[in-house]
Amino acid sequence: MMESKGSHKWTKNILDELDINPKIVVCAKKAGCVSASTILGASHNELEEKLGLSSFHIKNFIDAVTSHVLPKKTSAWDLSQTGEGDPKHITLGCQNLDNFLGGGVPARGITEMTGQSGSGKTQIALQLSLCAQLPPAAGGLGKGVAYICTESQFPTARLQQMVKYFKAKHSQGPASYTDGIFVHHIPDMDSLVDCVRYQLPCLLSQRSIGLVVLDSVASPFRAEESNMENKNLLYTLGYQLHQLAATYHIAIVAINQVTSVIGNNNLYGHSGNVVPTLGLTWANLVTTRLMIGRTDSHVQAEQTEGSGQVKKSSSKTIVEYNVRELEVIFCPWLGKKSCPFVVTSKGIEDVE
Ligand SMILES: Nc1ncnc2c1ncn2[C@@H]1O[C@H](COP(=O)(O)OP(=O)(O)O)[C@@H](O)[C@H]1O
Ligand SMILES: [Mg+2]
Repeated sequence: MMESKGSHKWTKNILDELDINPKIVVCAKKAGCVSASTILGASHNELEEKLGLSSFHIKNFIDAVTSHVLPKKTSAWDLSQTGEGDPKHITLGCQNLDNFLGGGVPARGITEMTGQSGSGKTQIALQLSLCAQLPPAAGGLGKGVAYICTESQFPTARLQQMVKYFKAKHSQGPASYTDGIFVHHIPDMDSLVDCVRYQLPCLLSQRSIGLVVLDSVASPFRAEESNMENKNLLYTLGYQLHQLAATYHIAIVAINQVTSVIGNNNLYGHSGNVVPTLGLTWANLVTTRLMIGRTDSHVQAEQTEGSGQVKKSSSKTIVEYNVRELEVIFCPWLGKKSCPFVVTSKGIEDVE
């Protein structure tokens, strides 16, 4: 992966260029925290400890460093002049799903994928992580992926299985897909917010990244109580993700879980008996909400490798795959509709 031209601004001493309380500069120098990379690479608590300053001073320090190194925000006028107004898309690797989503997952805003456990959210995120690395001519962005795991270990074995088939299908991709995926494990809510505020901007400035996956946004927040402080953290998380998407023209995929409800629910949810978690605070931060679910239908296909349910044996082994559905719950540019797909050993595939 190539280093970006602006990486020097992350490693040089920037303390004298910041417009902040001189006391902070003295303490930062003493602690050896002089470059944006060192400062933003540490968590809020670590900086408090290292510099021996109050949380208030550390927040001012971090805010000053962030606005000093992050690229200027782009206005609608700038976009119209540079021709960057239309977002690029990442293919899902399936023609029908791409057509359904108007070209794939857009490099703009936050795309949420929600659905019950086992519905296929992680499978889609893994396939997108491969597709993002394809060159633009093949529907990708030709860039790497930041994959933030909060629920369980990153599914390395499954990714490798998908890579094998993916490489056979796409000859134009990178030599190693796994080298282009930067995996970060996050244990709790505070670390997630810290990661998205400080470590992720650092990574995006230094590496060529086109997709950020958050798998999932729900678990660290659900584990905690739904109080005002958590709502603020959720807001900070969503706001920061939007800033990063707009600044770097990247796709953000946030995976969410669902919770059961009785009867019909509101416009932010789903017509069935489940709704995405995290309530209206999060729903208002999401640009596109997609719901993934299993249907009662099955399709049969020839078996490639231990996957699906073996249906019958003759000269070929036929397996049966559960048909799943990707449904648009809300999206500014798409109508409310759904598209079927299956998960096979190869990954996500269209239903013909
Ligand atoms: N190698 C495979 N072959 C076929 N189906 C698979 C394979 N690996 C996972 N799946 C399917 O994907 C489902 C899990 O999807 P996943 O994306 O992990 O769910 P979640 O929505 O909880 O993230 C499994 O229940 C299984 O049906
Ligand atoms: Mg999952």
